[in-house]
Amino acid sequence: MKQESPGYVVLEVEGKSVRLPVVVGSEGEKGIDIGALRRETGYVTLDPSFMNTAACYSSITFIDGEKGILRYRGIPIEELVRKTMFVEVAYLLVHGELPNEEQRRNFSAMLNINSMLHEDMRHFFDHFPRGAHPMHILSTMINALAAFYPNVDLKSLSEDIDQSTARLISIVRTMAAFAYKKSIGEPVVYPRHDLSYCANFLNMMFDSPVKPYQIHPDAVRILNMLFILHADHEQNCSTTAVRTIGSAQVNLYATISAGISALSGPLHGGANQAVIEMLKMIQQDGNVKKFLDMAKDKNNPFRLMGFGHRVYKTYDPRAAIIKRECHAYLERTHYSDPLLDVAREVEEAALNDPYFIERNLYPNVDFYTGILYRALGIPENMFTVMFALARLPGWIAHWKEMIGSDTKIVRPRQIYIGKTPVETVGVMENREPLLQ
Ligand code: ACO
Repeated sequence: MKQESPGYVVLEVEGKSVRLPVVVGSEGEKGIDIGALRRETGYVTLDPSFMNTAACYSSITFIDGEKGILRYRGIPIEELVRKTMFVEVAYLLVHGELPNEEQRRNFSAMLNINSMLHEDMRHFFDHFPRGAHPMHILSTMINALAAFYPNVDLKSLSEDIDQSTARLISIVRTMAAFAYKKSIGEPVVYPRHDLSYCANFLNMMFDSPVKPYQIHPDAVRILNMLFILHADHEQNCSTTAVRTIGSAQVNLYATISAGISALSGPLHGGANQAVIEMLKMIQQDGNVKKFLDMAKDKNNPFRLMGFGHRVYKTYDPRAAIIKRECHAYLERTHYSDPLLDVAREVEEAALNDPYFIERNLYPNVDFYTGILYRALGIPENMFTVMFALARLPGWIAHWKEMIGSDTKIVRPRQIYIGKTPVETVGVMENREPLLQ
C-alpha cells in the first residue's frame, strides 16, 4: 500500500529550491518522488541500469537484500515452500490472496481446460532447426499464440484475467514439453487431466510409448518447490521488460515473450545452465583457485556464474533452501552427482576469499538449481525454460498490477552526448535535396 509520509527533501538547483516528497513503503523503504523535478528545474536524473531507481509502486513481492528476506504478498518464501503448491502460489501472486478450496479447484480446472495447444501450432515445432535453443523456440511460440487466440486485447484480458492467466500458465507448460520432445525426436505427450500441474509436466517430458514414466511424488515435490522459489522476484530484468513492453499496451503474449527473451540472458535466467557448464569445466580442470582467479581478473570476462546479485548482499534465501533440499534429495534418491561436490568446494572457496567477501558476493538462486534439475532428469538446455515456466505467474501479476494502475507508457529520458550542429557544419553541403 502506498504510504505518503509528511516529509520531503529539498533540492537546490542553480539557486532554486525544489521540495520533493519522501514516499515510504509498507516495509519502511524510503524513496524521493522526483515527479516535479524536470518541470520545476529542467533537470532530469541519471541512473544507468536503474541502480537507485524505483520504477513503480508494487504490492506483489518484498525483498530485503541486506537481510536475505523474500516474501510474496507478505508471506515468507520459506512458509510458501513448506505449505503450498505452485498452483496456489500462482493464484496468490496474480490475485493477492491464497485461494480457498473452491477457488483452488476452479483454478486447477481452468488449467486443465486450457492445457491443450492448438493442433495447428504443433506443426510449428517441426520447422525449427535441430539444436535450436528451447528458449528461442518458446519465445517465438508464445508470440505466435496471439494469432491463434486473438482475444488478448487489454479490455478482454482485464475482464477475464483468470482465463488468460490459466491459458498462459498451462499452455506454456505444454509448449515447453513439446519443444523438448521435438528436440530429441520423440512423439509429443499430451497433458492429462488427472495429474497435478508439476506431475503433468514431468509426465509430458518423460513418458514415452515404449517406456511409461513412473511419476515419483518426491520429484513432483522438488519441482513444486523450485517453481515456487522462482515464481516472482519483483523488478528484475525480465519483469521490467514485461512492465515496459506491456505499458505500450501490446498484447499479453508479446509482452510475456519479451520477458522470456530477457530471461534467456546468461546474466539473468540463463545463469542456471551456465553454472553447470562452469562446474563441469572446473571438475575437468580440478583447480578451483584458477577459476576464482579468473573471476577476479578484471581483464578476463569470466564471472563466477551463480554468484552475486543486484539486490541480495547476503545469502540469497532461495539458494539456501535449494542447497538444503538438493543435498537431501540426492541422498534420499541415492543419486550421486560429482558436480554437487564441485559446487560446495567453489562456494566454500569463494565465501572465504576477500574479493567475494568485500563485494558481498554469495550464491544466488541459480547456483544449486541446475544440480537439482539434473537429478530430476531435466536436460541442461531446458533449465532456463523451467525458470520461465515458474516465472510466468510473477510476470502476469506485474502486468496486471501495471495495467490496473495509472501507468503511462514507459519512456525514459537520456543525457545526449553526441555531436552538436557546430560539429557537423558542412557535412550535408554537397548533397542534392531529395525533397523540395
Ligand atoms: N564473479 C566475479 N565478480 C563478480 C561477480 C561474479 N559472479 N558478480 C559481481 N562481481 C563483481 C563485479 O565485477 C564488480 O566488481 P568491481 O566493483 O570491482 O567492479 C562487483 O562485483 C559488483 O558487481 P556488478 O556487476 O556491478 O553487480 P550487478 O548488480 O550489476 O550484477 C549480477 C549482478 C549480474 C547478477 C552479477 O553478480 C553477475 O554477473 N553474476 C553472475 C551471473 C549470475 O549468476 N546471474 C544470475 C543472477 S540471479 C537471476 O537473475 C535469477
